[in-house]
Amino acid sequence: MEILSVSAEVAPWSKTGGLGDVAAALPKALAARGHRVLAVAPRYAPYPDAWDTGMRLRFPLFGQVHEVRLFHTQAAGFDLLFVDHPAICRGGIYGDERGGYGDNLFRFALLSRAAIEAARRFPVSAGGDAARPLTEAGPLRVLSHDWHAGLVPVYLRHHYQAHGLLTDARVAHVIHNLAHQGVASFDDWWGLDLPAAAAPVLDMHGRMNCMKAALVSADRVVAVSPSYAREITEQEHGFGLDGILRMRGGALSGIINGIDPTEWSPAADRHLPATFGPEVWPEAPTKPGPVGGKLRCKAELQRELGLPVRADLPVLGFIGRLTGQKGIDLLEAVGPWLAHQPCQVVLLGTGEERYERALSALGRRYPSAVAVKVGFDVGLAHRITAGADILLMPSRFEPCGLNQLYALAYGTVPLVHATGGLRDTVHSFDPGRDAGTGWAFGPASPEAFQHALSMALLTWHQFPASFAGLARRGMAERNDWAASAEAYVRLLAG
Ligand code: GLC
Repeated sequence: MEILSVSAEVAPWSKTGGLGDVAAALPKALAARGHRVLAVAPRYAPYPDAWDTGMRLRFPLFGQVHEVRLFHTQAAGFDLLFVDHPAICRGGIYGDERGGYGDNLFRFALLSRAAIEAARRFPVSAGGDAARPLTEAGPLRVLSHDWHAGLVPVYLRHHYQAHGLLTDARVAHVIHNLAHQGVASFDDWWGLDLPAAAAPVLDMHGRMNCMKAALVSADRVVAVSPSYAREITEQEHGFGLDGILRMRGGALSGIINGIDPTEWSPAADRHLPATFGPEVWPEAPTKPGPVGGKLRCKAELQRELGLPVRADLPVLGFIGRLTGQKGIDLLEAVGPWLAHQPCQVVLLGTGEERYERALSALGRRYPSAVAVKVGFDVGLAHRITAGADILLMPSRFEPCGLNQLYALAYGTVPLVHATGGLRDTVHSFDPGRDAGTGWAFGPASPEAFQHALSMALLTWHQFPASFAGLARRGMAERNDWAASAEAYVRLLAG
């Protein structure tokens, strides 16, 4: 198949969360299955490893003809193009310290228009055969990710197909997070250069809504886990679009994300002081906690973060954006209680200032129990994943979640709120049958969270063999892209 993937982020060039990881790993997995894949993302900064193709695209937007330049890099098995324009290339991805950029609608409209044109014009070389544009090689299959690429199916229908072009193209719109919808005032409608027939497609209660436009225009809609696909058709998690999603019921499905073992494998992770395999959780432990390489990672992590180096306490990690979605309020609520338990807590993330302040205060108050790093640090994220015993994900909602999958692979037992992809990937401990891979609590309340935490701490301290079993079963799971990439292939082919 000829597959175009369009996203606002692609790791490692641009990433604020899981979207960037998936937008790199899914094209790679599809290309590995013999498909020709072109991924298109914005050029937010002058990336040293991407070269100017010399190709220029021009189109009218917001009352002016704009020219974008295309930069190219050969990614793992697929071609990756970066769309360059002064409005895009100004440092931040979605905004700066002052907040989101005011012209994001324009910036991502540029991305969407440029991506479709690139599929028609840019000679894709991956796959070995002669370089030619995707649309010359066969019918175009498009993956548009989140609201930022939401105008792709809209331009495709109303700009191209309405004029008899690309009529055999099909789009699957992938929802990574329904909370962000790309809402703008209809005052900007004229700038999008769309025919009047597209206005009702974008309209949501009198405002333009890019996510809604994608949901009604795409041929198929994919959510990044089966549970999330169900939850977003209900009011609680639908963010106002549950009615539209119920309407699209037949076209909506859930496909869980995978992880890329070349980036995330404890046996070959260049960010770690020591690598390791399942031997770090012995079947008949003589005392609680991991041994070998994982113990070394734990000790180094404690040292790096200024905590007492203690093998006799479990380290509880949290990595993520500090936003309401991630359940930071629950962490805040149980924080003081947790700081008095026999454990250490390490937190890494950036986000809303009030959460950054609250968590930092917790760290200052309990310096020997809680270490807080405000920031975005890929290396430290790997070291926490490896060095922690337990990974906390109290997310209020979580479309898929990747950190729990990384944790499972690294023998770090996830403790999660049972929602979305967390519900689908973490199997709650059943002591009677010695089954499960973590703890999944509900509802999302401080009480339920605290109860799960005390169960986990009790298990770590008093039942080391049970804890090691949880960790070993997690490590044995395969959460790579194989099955999910096949599911995307079937969806795009159908
Ligand atoms: C978003 C979601 C997260 C998901 C990721 C990749 O960041 O919040 O749950 O794992 O996208 O799909």
